[in-house]
Amino acid sequence: MPGLVFKDWCVPMSSTATSSSQSTAPAVTVHRLLAGQKALVTGANSGIGKAVAIALGQAGADVVVNYVADDAAAGAVVEEIEKSGSKAYAHQADVSSEDQVAAMFARMKQEFGTIDILVSNAGLQRDSAFHEMTLAQWSKVLDVNLTGQFLCAREAVREFLRRGVVPSVSSAAGKIICMSSVHQQIPWAGHANYAASKGGIKLLMESLAQEVALKRIRVNAIAPGAIRTPINTEAWNTKAAYDELMKLVPYGRIGEPEDIARAAVWLASDNSDYVVGTTLFVDGGMTLYPGFATGG
Ligand code: BGC
Repeated sequence: MPGLVFKDWCVPMSSTATSSSQSTAPAVTVHRLLAGQKALVTGANSGIGKAVAIALGQAGADVVVNYVADDAAAGAVVEEIEKSGSKAYAHQADVSSEDQVAAMFARMKQEFGTIDILVSNAGLQRDSAFHEMTLAQWSKVLDVNLTGQFLCAREAVREFLRRGVVPSVSSAAGKIICMSSVHQQIPWAGHANYAASKGGIKLLMESLAQEVALKRIRVNAIAPGAIRTPINTEAWNTKAAYDELMKLVPYGRIGEPEDIARAAVWLASDNSDYVVGTTLFVDGGMTLYPGFATGG
């Protein structure tokens, strides 16, 4: 069993502000739990991926910042990680392209030697009423959100199997964190492609976790709820939208990318060594069906 590390793991309580623009999440406090590990985060130039990449870097991992568009944003994430003393570089690749994913992992092997942590985060929405949804909208979402997870996980597992456990680095041969969503569980009208992709991630993650657990590879998922990111700006950027959103969130505040980043650091670390094939919901209680608090 790995040594337990609790030092500095506490976070200060924040105020109870409820405005739509102000963060009410506690500050991220991580120590160098992941020192010596090499991580790849897909879709790491904004939103949840950005916060996760920075937190992994602050926790001591060297990080590949994958992105598709916006070199400057990816470069800024690299700089932020380097400030914490970890190495980082940006790599442009479309996770739904088999060749580009293979090239991304080949470069990572050259630059960092190996991979210990994959956070498969890249994802997008192409929302539409079902009867108007085009095949292009359907395919784009499934290609990036689900096939992208398959392609990246396959490359990571190949490397984990080749290298095996290095006890001085981690008690696992590798860790994969699939970024899912509450919509792997909550149906979402007008978003059938997105919900189908997230439902697919759930069983992809669980089947893979079952298949490789004996090789000491830990595969888990995080299911974020409503997090303040560019993907869902319309759900929080006005007071009316924010108030409406809060009807779905028992905890009474929107999630911040850092809420997900803390969960990712824990799932990537040996502190979660016995956590295998689980989805960690980080959603302020959204999956508690808050409509039933007073009804039913
Ligand atoms: C979606 C967001 C949405 C949230 C909660 C996420 O997976 O990307 O747009 O706000 O789920 O519904």
